[in-house]
Amino acid sequence: MKMSDNAYIRYTRFVLFFTFIVILAGGVVRMTQSGMGCPDWPRCFGRWIPPTSIHQLPADYEKYLRQQDIDHTFNPYHTWIEYINRLCGAILGFLIIIHTVWSFRKYYRSNRKIAWLALFLFLAVCFQGWLGKRVVDANLAVVKITTHMLVALVLTCIPVLIIHIRRPIEKIRNNGLKWLTILTLALLIIQIILGTEVREQVDEVSRSLNYAQRELWLSRLNIFFTIHKTFAWAAALACLILFWSSISHKVLQPTATWIFLTVLVVMILGLSMAYYNIPAIAQPLHMLTSCILFTLSYAHKLRIR
Ligand code: HEM
Repeated sequence: MKMSDNAYIRYTRFVLFFTFIVILAGGVVRMTQSGMGCPDWPRCFGRWIPPTSIHQLPADYEKYLRQQDIDHTFNPYHTWIEYINRLCGAILGFLIIIHTVWSFRKYYRSNRKIAWLALFLFLAVCFQGWLGKRVVDANLAVVKITTHMLVALVLTCIPVLIIHIRRPIEKIRNNGLKWLTILTLALLIIQIILGTEVREQVDEVSRSLNYAQRELWLSRLNIFFTIHKTFAWAAALACLILFWSSISHKVLQPTATWIFLTVLVVMILGLSMAYYNIPAIAQPLHMLTSCILFTLSYAHKLRIR
């Protein structure tokens, strides 16, 4: 492998890392109800650098505040959280544009598959940006949230696949393990889709209570919460069996160990929400760790044939 290959792989890893940062930033915006912190787009209160105090608001600021769905007051904390979230999204966009250009220049002749994967990554991030801005009616909200989550997983898995293609690694040939990993991925994807259904419920219930009285939220969730809680044990068990069956293979040890640790964290965060009235901090972390768990399982699968 050439030196420039190493640089390319390091950069692709960084894109992957930054994608997780953007996923976390989106979760923090939701946790703090900062989504309307910048009521207009692409600017924020008509400015490129948002206001830090009420004195910096434009003369017609009330027209912006009217667009907010809850308090209709200026909150610099919400404004800056939303602004940083947008900034992270924009940086990721630039990182991916550079990645696409680099992939085409470097691999279009020698390894066309990588160039097309990079282009797909670029298109996926464009789609994600478009979906994020699209306002949908309440009935379609869950479709939007689920699609957003599934595209986020595509965004994290493509860099993993590109790295895998560029960095030849010894593969394990084991039919049983291969199918166990595929089963785990399938259970995880079902669990994640169920999770987005629960999240949409939490959004609806919390909005109706003005984001207060957290102790009432859980009791107002529908059957999907019960299904999500129950199905979690099947998904977690599959991860544990996968860990146990893989740990004796040296090549699989790193991903297997991370899968084991991450599923523990996902479960602890999920249970903490179920027993402690959905603590705000657990919401973005549960989502982020679920995405990491799926991505790790995908990386695990790539090491088995
Ligand atoms: C393998 C295990 C699990 C996975 C992969 C998983 C995944 C997810 C995902 C992807 C979401 C949607 C997050 C979002 O869109 O913001 C979610 C939401 C949720 N999950 Fe899980 N989950 C798991 C286990 C559990 C368990 C065991 C519980 C509780 C006993 C639980 C409780 C919740 C709750 C309350 C939400 C709504 C959170 C919110 O409003 O942000 N989860 N889950």
